[in-house]
Amino acid sequence: STEVSFLQCFSSNLQHPNEASNVLLTTNSSNYSSVLQSSIRNHRFLNNSTLKPQFIITPSHVSHIQAAIRCSKQNGLQVRVRSAGHDYEGLSYVADVPFLIIDLFNLRSIRVDIENESAWVESGATLGELYHKIAEKSKLYGFPAGSCSTVGVGGHFSGGGFGTIFRKYGLAADNIIDAKIVDVNGKILTRKSMGEDLFWAIRGGGGASFGVIFSWKVKIVPVPQTVTVFNVRYTLEQGASKLLQKWQNVAHELDEDIFLHAVLEVADSTTSSAGSNKTVLVSFGSLYLGGVEKLVSLLQESFPQLGLMRENCTEMTWIQSVLYFAGFSTKDSLNVLLDRSTQYKGFLKAKSDYLTKPVSETGLEGLYRILLEEEAPVLILTPYGGRMSEISDSEIAFPHRKGNIYAIQYLTNWDEEDETEKHISSMRRLYKYMKPYVSKAPRAAYLNYRDLDLGRNNNAGNSSYAQAYVWGLKYFKNNFKRLVRVKTAVDPDNFFRNEQSIPVFP
Ligand code: FDA
Repeated sequence: STEVSFLQCFSSNLQHPNEASNVLLTTNSSNYSSVLQSSIRNHRFLNNSTLKPQFIITPSHVSHIQAAIRCSKQNGLQVRVRSAGHDYEGLSYVADVPFLIIDLFNLRSIRVDIENESAWVESGATLGELYHKIAEKSKLYGFPAGSCSTVGVGGHFSGGGFGTIFRKYGLAADNIIDAKIVDVNGKILTRKSMGEDLFWAIRGGGGASFGVIFSWKVKIVPVPQTVTVFNVRYTLEQGASKLLQKWQNVAHELDEDIFLHAVLEVADSTTSSAGSNKTVLVSFGSLYLGGVEKLVSLLQESFPQLGLMRENCTEMTWIQSVLYFAGFSTKDSLNVLLDRSTQYKGFLKAKSDYLTKPVSETGLEGLYRILLEEEAPVLILTPYGGRMSEISDSEIAFPHRKGNIYAIQYLTNWDEEDETEKHISSMRRLYKYMKPYVSKAPRAAYLNYRDLDLGRNNNAGNSSYAQAYVWGLKYFKNNFKRLVRVKTAVDPDNFFRNEQSIPVFP
């Protein structure tokens, strides 16, 4: 049977065969379910009908990854790599063919070198662990990655990774200077030995198509002693729509030290008009790399309509702002950043868009109507510009740069399985409504906000270039073809594959 053959292969590929029992879980292992579920973030994939992995490998050494790859190949098993399981469509732990998971949560050491302004971080670490480790060494350094502290380094870095200082420093992927990967032959490669093509591909092209990246060397970036945050909120009745129109024109042009995003959600209306007790609330949230006086004066000049006052702002250290944007109190101990148990539990569906011009006033009015009718999705509008416009579209595989004024993440959460259909349909209607207002040919999307509605490979994963082009163009624009070339060179038999992996040329 596959099980016996895999177990034999795995043990014989280890230096110490008895290590197998520590790192390999079968469906009979007592901790199989708890490990499997430990980083399932999306409850859509936490049910009995989802096919379960035959094995879970929890490497504590790179040789365990090498053995897992060699033996999966020999036994016809697909491999899913999981760093912290935040993939919106569960691609790191769900498959509909026989498969195993390589779960990297034990490979999460971080070494920060302040003198050389760099750090080596293993893929199984979370963003919170990385921020914590940097702050332990110095409060004057940070890293430009995402806001949620439980997100995993492996998926996040390889898909791009943006956060509150990306207008100043670019994406997490823009700040990677070396990486270590186990390839399809079980060989360990570094930047030098993998070559610049593969190193280019794993920065924004997603890691899962190319191998198992187990460690990254990143540039850490300077942050000032004091940063300033604010969050001002307006309902439609309080003039949110005019502010949002203005925001669309200014947010991407603000000084690169200012990050000012807008979050739209449905809220109870206190000043109920026309019999409705619901309204749309727009929150303008900001991080500024500097003190409050300068921020207020910058915004009074470029966005006076926001009416920002000193009292709306709070000064803090950069690492406290990490707590703030991750949803913790700034008074919390920094150790909350080490908690890997998810801050979010529930069912979710997300989609994304890029905009090259503002949505018209009528477009926004229609959007508010849709939001009030639908199942309460949240829209997060992230301004681009700054450093993002200076880096070329083809510098790394992530392509969404100059010309984009902002990106939208549409996100909907729910608690009960029987509401799934309703929420997903609602999300699709909203996405359809937005079509005239967003980027076209392609209607671009962000890989890290994975959306299988955009298209998927055949079940066995062997899709043609033409089939995959449909979604590949949306995620990677003109970089898609080069990604296929790299994939064809490094994994010609398409071993590393999933529903949206990069295909190979025939
Ligand atoms: P996961 O382990 O699920 O992996 C995601 C994908 O990468 C899978 O295909 C997986 O196989 C592959 N992969 C993972 N590790 C790999 C490795 N070592 N080698 C090769 N392939 C590997 N994004 C953002 O840019 N900014 C943000 O602020 C946020 N915030 C956020 C909050 C929450 C609650 C969620 C659920 C998601 C986000 N994201 C985000 C999106 C996030 O960046 C995206 O889901 C990442 O891919 C998650 O990385 P994980 O390692 O956690 O996911």
